[in-house]
Amino acid sequence: MSDRPRVFVSRVLPGGAAPRSPLALLHDAADVDVWEAHTPPSPEALLHRAEGADALLTVLTERVDGALLDAAPRVRVVANMAVGYDNIDVPACTERGVLVTNTPGVLTDATADMTWALLLAAARRLPEGDAALRGGAWGPWHPTWLLGHRVSGATLGIVGPGRIGRAVAERARGFGMTVLYAGRRAVADFPGTFVPLDDLLARADYVSMHVPLTPETTRMCDASFFARMRPDAIFVNTTRGGVVDQPALIEALRLGRIAGAGLDVMTPEPLPVDDPLLTAPHLVVAPHLGSATLETRTAMARLAVEGVIAGLARRAPSNAVNPEALTVGRRR
Ligand code: DGY
Repeated sequence: MSDRPRVFVSRVLPGGAAPRSPLALLHDAADVDVWEAHTPPSPEALLHRAEGADALLTVLTERVDGALLDAAPRVRVVANMAVGYDNIDVPACTERGVLVTNTPGVLTDATADMTWALLLAAARRLPEGDAALRGGAWGPWHPTWLLGHRVSGATLGIVGPGRIGRAVAERARGFGMTVLYAGRRAVADFPGTFVPLDDLLARADYVSMHVPLTPETTRMCDASFFARMRPDAIFVNTTRGGVVDQPALIEALRLGRIAGAGLDVMTPEPLPVDDPLLTAPHLVVAPHLGSATLETRTAMARLAVEGVIAGLARRAPSNAVNPEALTVGRRR
């Protein structure tokens, strides 16, 4: 049996196994076992495939917790191909000396672009226009049909001034917008004005969420949050569905407490087609496509592969989530 490290990759990576692809890089360093389906492995299948592995390259649908790590005692690095890592129990990894890496930076622009796609589509009612045209409901031009909301010159509120929040704010300059942002603290050089969340909600025409999903942010966008927004404002979420109390959002849209919403993330994912969310008015949805460009996904896969290689060598790359895990001592 080979003494090369073994890596389980929980999904097919962009670029296939072509020379210089992320997977080819991984093949140079390890014996690689890829989950070939486009659907996630079941928890049992994940456990089974992780058992003999030294490293896991996961995506956001895989739950990595203490029980999995205990059943897979050789694993010493988990490289998550996502910037968010709410699917990973990081303290459980750290306790066991398992390094966790994520993929920050490389998806910032793609996700910011997607935020703008949703914001503009919701503001200018593109899905309604598209459906009307295709459904034969396009009558003669008239001055009051499908009126949307102005974007240029309006006020954008960013909740969570991290990398993606900043990139969204930078794009607002081109629209001559006033940018407000709320977060734990003011951020140096952020292209906007730091305000308390309540002020942001009271003033913004567009409220865009960019906080990670943590116990503190879980369902932070609840009925009170939407009640504090302006009735003519639009809500955009490209982070995680879990930050939204979805029934409260549905009610806010139904009752006209807010004017619209654009969502790239929701609960659950995939969302069943009969979910009540899809009956809410003035809602634009996308199926978690924030980072979905070939360039971005390839860069994410490469960064995840580099995380695996660094973790196997017991090095903490700059995208290590818990570099302190390396001081805990190697498992096996
Ligand atoms: C992430 O990276 O966290 C996204 O949700 C998937 O690109």
